[in-house]
Amino acid sequence: MPRIPIKEFLPPWSSRIRPYPPGKPIEEVERELGHTAIKLASNENPLGPSPKALEAIRRCLDRVHLYPDGGGYYLRKKLAEGHGLEMDQVILGAGSTDLIELVAKTFLTAGDEAITSESAFYIYRLAIEEMGTGLVLTPMRNATFDLAAIAHAVTHRTKVVYLGNPNNPTGTMFTADELDRFLESVSPRVLVVLDEAYYDYVQRPDYSRSLDCVRRGKNILVLRTFSKVHGLAGLRIGYGMGDRELIECLNRIRSPFNASTVAQAAALAALDDREHVARSIESNRQEMKFLTEELTVMGMRYTPSVANFLLIDTGRDCEEDFVRLLHEGVIVRPMKIYKFPTSLRVTAGTHKDNLLFLEALHRVMTAPVRAGKV
Ligand SMILES: Cc1ncc(COP(=O)(O)O)c(C=O)c1O
Repeated sequence: MPRIPIKEFLPPWSSRIRPYPPGKPIEEVERELGHTAIKLASNENPLGPSPKALEAIRRCLDRVHLYPDGGGYYLRKKLAEGHGLEMDQVILGAGSTDLIELVAKTFLTAGDEAITSESAFYIYRLAIEEMGTGLVLTPMRNATFDLAAIAHAVTHRTKVVYLGNPNNPTGTMFTADELDRFLESVSPRVLVVLDEAYYDYVQRPDYSRSLDCVRRGKNILVLRTFSKVHGLAGLRIGYGMGDRELIECLNRIRSPFNASTVAQAAALAALDDREHVARSIESNRQEMKFLTEELTVMGMRYTPSVANFLLIDTGRDCEEDFVRLLHEGVIVRPMKIYKFPTSLRVTAGTHKDNLLFLEALHRVMTAPVRAGKV
């Protein structure tokens, strides 16, 4: 039997898609290089999950032969109460990336347009491209979403705009007033997806009032996640908040068991552990200060960040510096794909890991660069 040329079944736009390159897992470095490494590549919480979440995970393990509560009743109830919303204004996802894609699957098709920024979180553009939808990328201004440029790029074909606040990988933010002005300036027909994955880390008083926008009935979906400050990235659990009609539309397409029993139990317990959240935020504040001060002393250039990571411009090929740091036992993220060909993105880790990173970076930056492959 001849092999089925399966690639021919792909819709034409699929062949242009470049899959998301995730942070390199520690196990992969161990396999490939034969030594262990610290991972500062995916903006995870270096303090790990809350002990209360771990206890809740253990308690639900004898129920994992049963399907999860597909409606996520208790978690949605708690999230709704905690945010001053109704339960039917909340939707759960297998991480916020699940919801980023769900919006695209629900609303976009070929012939539509959707907008995001050139150096925004890569999953936004993938979600748009997967649907064969026209991808409109606007340039950033001062490494921040240029909301005026996005408003200008809206046409009668635009259905969705994806915004990250703070943005990954730049760590920059726009203010609540700037978002209000943007929402006033774009047609209410455009759905704005506002990804606030790093919400808890931002200390600036002029940051988000996004839930007011939801309560005012704006056409907006606010996304948050348990992957960052709650330290549950491996469980894949995030949530969206918006108008109930919007949530109802998304629920039509949502995969029915997208939030596992374990993830729901852990997330519920994580919400109760305010101390762990406060500890994580404080640790991040101190370590971001430490990293930025040390990088300044080293004469390194970086983009000031309100989140838990830093975009560092080494002024050299980022893929090569990435490999050099891997050999030093530190996993960071090269940023060529985000149009920063000489930058690395580094997560603020524990103090010990940050020291190891700074020492490794110093060695890499001062070692003579040899021609050829690193
Ligand atoms: C801006 C942004 N949104 C969403 C995510 C993904 O979050 P989740 O683990 O909830 O899918 C990330 C992860 O790095 C991110 O940087």
